[in-house]
Amino acid sequence: MFYLIGKCGHTLEKFLDEETPMFGMVEAKSLMIKYTMDCIGSCVFGIETGAMEITKQKNVFVTMGEIIFNTSKFHGYKLVCRAIWPKIFYALGLKYYSTEIDIFFKSLLMGVFEKRNFKPTARQDFVDLVLALKQKKHIIGDSLNSKSMDIKKIEMEVTDDLLVSQCIVFFAAGFESSASTLSCALYELAKNQEAQRQAQEEVDEYLRRRNNKLVYECVTELPYIEACLNETMRLYPVLPVITREVVEDYTFPSGLQVDKGVRVHLPVYHLHRRPEYFPEPDAFHPERFYGDAKNDLKPYTFFPFGEGPRQCIGLRFSKMQTTVAMITVLKKYNVELAEGTPTKLEFCPSAFLTHPNAALNFKFIPRDGWEQRVYVK
Ligand code: HEM
Repeated sequence: MFYLIGKCGHTLEKFLDEETPMFGMVEAKSLMIKYTMDCIGSCVFGIETGAMEITKQKNVFVTMGEIIFNTSKFHGYKLVCRAIWPKIFYALGLKYYSTEIDIFFKSLLMGVFEKRNFKPTARQDFVDLVLALKQKKHIIGDSLNSKSMDIKKIEMEVTDDLLVSQCIVFFAAGFESSASTLSCALYELAKNQEAQRQAQEEVDEYLRRRNNKLVYECVTELPYIEACLNETMRLYPVLPVITREVVEDYTFPSGLQVDKGVRVHLPVYHLHRRPEYFPEPDAFHPERFYGDAKNDLKPYTFFPFGEGPRQCIGLRFSKMQTTVAMITVLKKYNVELAEGTPTKLEFCPSAFLTHPNAALNFKFIPRDGWEQRVYVK
């Protein structure tokens, strides 16, 4: 699948070449949304979204993304109601996504499925994985209500609705989370020029070694970039609160009892900023996640992707798309805060994900010698 993300990296390189001289200033979140949508469109739906094409018309995927991550107060209240009282939420006939989303994605995906004759192809994208499931007709998995020693199995029929809904979840979970992390990473690097220089040196060295080619190994060969992304997710975890429902009465070794049905809200943002786990918690120090220092992290104090069996399934995918984007931007540009961009972020209280109130505007200034780091396709 990496070759598809690599191609999106090449499109981002071209898009930046065209976009930056035109406007001089770049709003990082909308830029990164276009890029991550292209990655998801290509790897999940097997289509070119054209999100990074410069046209006057608004891209339909960008519009769908805005509907899903609507930050209005009404939507915010709905989300809180669903997190705290899910039974009431569904009894009132409320839905997480609007019907518009269902209709759009169903018609899009049924077209893609039909084009592939409802059978996996050599493309090896997510649609192929989903179509492979369809051929099985039924899937068997572990029941959520199983206690660890007594695993019950459940069987589900593979319907078109089930397949389409998997693709929608991947679209929604995949583009916004990575775009948000990328724009916040650039924000912190713009404020911390020394860290930015160290990240650029690592990128330049990687491209020299790999003859300007993007290869899968970039996810392990750039430890400082990885540390910058981890430190960004510590400061700005995409999901600031993770919710779990207790499925069986349980007593912790400490004696704390939790009863079946209780909902537990884990304050990820708060834990990530506790000074006893992360000294100077509000400061951007990628070194916490670099080299031997990362062995000192206390387990379960840093979990931007969640933990346990429901941990983010897109973790590896997100590493691929975020690393490629960081290489693509930093190999050519020095990133600085544009005038008016605040030096401390405040967040929108009605948004589902960590969403800064302010636009993240940057100046992208071409670096000396960038011509030697143009991608080889
Ligand atoms: C920086 C990027 C990302 C972050 C920080 C992130 C974070 C998370 C978190 C915290 C969860 C909830 C885990 C839990 O409940 O314990 C989650 C779930 C999930 N993520 Fe991600 N994610 C990212 C990227 C992605 C990508 C790229 C994809 C797909 C391509 C993806 C797909 C999913 C899916 C399918 C779920 C499960 C949703 C569900 O169970 O309802 N994520 N993610």
